[in-house]
Amino acid sequence: ATTPLTTHKVGGRIGAVIEGVRLGGDLDAETLTAVRTAILTHKVVFFRDQSHLDAESHEAFGRLLGTPVAHPTVPSVDGRYALGIDNDHGGRANQWHTDVTFVPAYPAFSILRAEVIPPYGGNTLWSNTAAVYASLPEPLRVLADSLRGVHTNDYDYAAARPEARTAALEQHRKVFTSTKFQTEHPVVRVHSETGERTLILGNFLQKLAGFRAADSRAIIDLLQAHVERPENTVRWQWRAGDVAIWDNRATQHYGVDDSDDHERTLRRVTVDGDVPVGVDG
Ligand code: SIN
Repeated sequence: ATTPLTTHKVGGRIGAVIEGVRLGGDLDAETLTAVRTAILTHKVVFFRDQSHLDAESHEAFGRLLGTPVAHPTVPSVDGRYALGIDNDHGGRANQWHTDVTFVPAYPAFSILRAEVIPPYGGNTLWSNTAAVYASLPEPLRVLADSLRGVHTNDYDYAAARPEARTAALEQHRKVFTSTKFQTEHPVVRVHSETGERTLILGNFLQKLAGFRAADSRAIIDLLQAHVERPENTVRWQWRAGDVAIWDNRATQHYGVDDSDDHERTLRRVTVDGDVPVGVDG
């Protein structure tokens, strides 16, 4: 049976809450289409009260959006495609990034499910990179259109997060970089479903092809500063049982590591994407 679904925006440029949906592998086709359209429109959508989901039904729901893909280096938890995100595996916290951009066809969608949420902190922010691109001054859009970026999982973790040198995080870093990946993407991709121009930047972007290191850094920082402008973002305060689904081709996100030693456990399923196409095809 079709579920009546309501969507309301929680940010001006990104983010909506969807109510009236019980996520799972058995979602009816009409509701699935409405959810998919909402993700493409709002870039990230949030669902409360999805505690019925477990590893199996989380993955089964993921199959409705695409083919679930394992993380290239981090072993899945529960023998499923879910990536475990918890206190010992916070290697991506406090960094703006798009998931897994260091491989050619990086994931199209990520589905993040909250199991244990700390009493304070641990929010996640997302930025809409289509809105960011549209808001850039024309000369900057022209420059961005012409750029190509080199992405890798082998970046300098210690420099990125000098405060996070715990033994567990060091172990996580070793696993994360156990196989080194490097791939080149256009900085501006033409989204294969919406036709919008979005930006491929974020933490795995090491340098711009064809530039001196200093110029490359300056241009990346200039563009990234627009991604991080609060008006391009939404911030979600998690409750256990929440699910967030984002269009990984049109967003960056940032998990805030400010819950001290309180437990925070989330599970992420990602589904396959396509190789980005730039503005010149
Ligand atoms: C992620 O980077 O996919 C997880 C974000 C978070 O832990 O809030």
